[in-house]
Amino acid sequence: MLPKKPAETSVPLNELIHNRWSPRAYSDRAVSREDLIAVLEAARWAASCNNMQPWRYIVATKDDAAEHQRMVECLKTGNQEWAPAAPVLMIALASLMRPNGDENRHAFHDTGAASALLTLEATARGLFVRQMAGIEVDKVRETYAVPDDYGVVAGVALGYQGEPESLPEHRQEPETAPRSRNPLSDMIFAGTFGSTSPLVS
Ligand SMILES: Cc1cc2nc3c(=O)[nH]c(=O)nc-3n(C[C@H](O)[C@H](O)[C@H](O)COP(=O)(O)O)c2cc1C
Repeated sequence: MLPKKPAETSVPLNELIHNRWSPRAYSDRAVSREDLIAVLEAARWAASCNNMQPWRYIVATKDDAAEHQRMVECLKTGNQEWAPAAPVLMIALASLMRPNGDENRHAFHDTGAASALLTLEATARGLFVRQMAGIEVDKVRETYAVPDDYGVVAGVALGYQGEPESLPEHRQEPETAPRSRNPLSDMIFAGTFGSTSPLVS
């Protein structure tokens, strides 16, 4: 039985958010082209500041083993312990400038929102996502000739859930451990920063 790690919530949520979590273990089952396009479409339809749509994704699938390996080599070593099993790897990038040359202060925010929608569409299709801060940013820039006015945001592993036992031993316990979150009272304020809103106290 593969682990499920549903969110424990104070009120019931829709099943996508309830069931989504970020595994490190992936099976060798390929992601169909239709499913891959669908998750990318979901990202495309994220909201963004002035509809600037700053997100870009470099995609590498195991259909092209050399390209997939090229992306693996852009990951930090800790992520190289598990992410190579994911049949789809991506790097999320963000366009940092507005058309008028000013900084787009929301570029990373909006790219994160796009990746969140991508993840929910993946979940709806029985797929799983784990994002990665652990990427070699300079190597990504060099490998993919990323222009200076784009930020390198995060890696994304996508695929079907795999057996925890397929992971290196020190990665197996976290794979099955319950997920945790800070309480709502730590994040919902009213009146002053840091004053918990009576909504959630
Ligand atoms: C932007 C971002 C960067 C992350 N970086 C890594 C990473 O480099 N390696 C890793 O194993 N997990 C990484 N994660 C996964 C988080 O650790 C995980 O989402 C968090 O522990 C919450 O778990 P959950 O997604 O299962 O709820 C990252 C997640 C995000 C959103």
